Amino acid sequence: MSQGKQTILVTGGAGYIGSHAVKALQQALYDVIVFDNLSYGHPEIVQDVLKAELIVGDTSDRSLLDQLFSSRHIAAVMHFAAYIAVGESVTEPAKYYHNNVVGTLTLLEAMLAARVNKFVFSSTCAIYGMPQAIPMTESHPHNPLSPYASSKEMIERILADFDGAYGLKSVAFRYFNASGADPSGTLGEDHHPETHLIPLALLTALKKRQSLSIFGTDYPTPDGTALRDYIHVNDLASAHVLGLEYLLQGGKSEVFNLGNGNGFSVREVIETARKITGKEIPVTISDRRPGDAPILVGSSDLARQILGWNPQYPDLNTIINHAWNWHQKRHG
Ligand SMILES: NC(=O)c1ccc[n+]([C@@H]2O[C@H](COP(=O)([O-])OP(=O)(O)OC[C@H]3O[C@@H](n4cnc5c(N)ncnc54)[C@H](O)[C@@H]3O)[C@@H](O)[C@H]2O)c1
Repeated sequence: MSQGKQTILVTGGAGYIGSHAVKALQQALYDVIVFDNLSYGHPEIVQDVLKAELIVGDTSDRSLLDQLFSSRHIAAVMHFAAYIAVGESVTEPAKYYHNNVVGTLTLLEAMLAARVNKFVFSSTCAIYGMPQAIPMTESHPHNPLSPYASSKEMIERILADFDGAYGLKSVAFRYFNASGADPSGTLGEDHHPETHLIPLALLTALKKRQSLSIFGTDYPTPDGTALRDYIHVNDLASAHVLGLEYLLQGGKSEVFNLGNGNGFSVREVIETARKITGKEIPVTISDRRPGDAPILVGSSDLARQILGWNPQYPDLNTIINHAWNWHQKRHG
């Protein structure tokens, strides 16, 4: 049940997942303020498509945050703002720890000062590292294999400590592979550089790239390529609204996986993209990348049980169809 016109601050709302969450919040009748430094975000999506208020600012700008929290009545914060490129985080860890940890800590301190104590956080299944059991549950041991993943684990730790000491209530969502696009075709994935398989396949189909790399064809999987759990971005967005409402209704701090519980191989994704686009998608075979697990599939039973979450778009064809619709409009 929606709580009516409460105002939610959405950091990173000009990015891929954040923009879909803004739309879901608007549909659930919340007022939204997007806070984004536009390092990777798309302001025209916020202003022209979502018609939401945009504040251009950085999460490490404490005085701007203090001004914002004191001038507006904000019921909760949804925090998507982060740097997300795993490979870059290995070569530039300072950049990732600064933005993802110091930026988030600054935001949390500004929230505490303003007595805003509800926080929904974008975490990642990457904090688990190599799987010891499939599907992975929230109790799977942590072994982050990159500074990116470590930065998310650190925030989860900080959130647990801030609940204990200051009563800040949070929901942290560990996403598996975010994918797809809003069925309207007006929102979708547009990362620069792009590192995710489905958009890379579709950009190759559109001849924006010459070929697509498959990293590893000798994994212990049915076709030798890695298996991943693809979750539609609108299903992530609906989970965020449910997580927010859970907190607004007094729920305790919790961590939830968000995935479909199915694994699709790299080759299956490429074949499905070929079928949907009707285009050639040339591939090059490369060695496995260090740190890539053969299989990453999550159990989201906890989110289903506690939040009543029920993903609407588990089918890979639908996910790629929606992404193709968006990519043709954006890049065609
Ligand atoms: N895409 C995935 O598959 C995936 C998987 C797991 C977790 N996540 C997490 O979900 C969140 C959103 O990911 P996305 O794919 O939408 O990324 P994105 O790059 O599209 O969006 C992130 C947004 O945050 C903004 N931003 C970055 N640092 C900022 C700062 N310091 N202050 C203000 N704005 C800032 C960027 O400009 C961008 O608009 C991230 O926290 C990411 O770690 C994503």
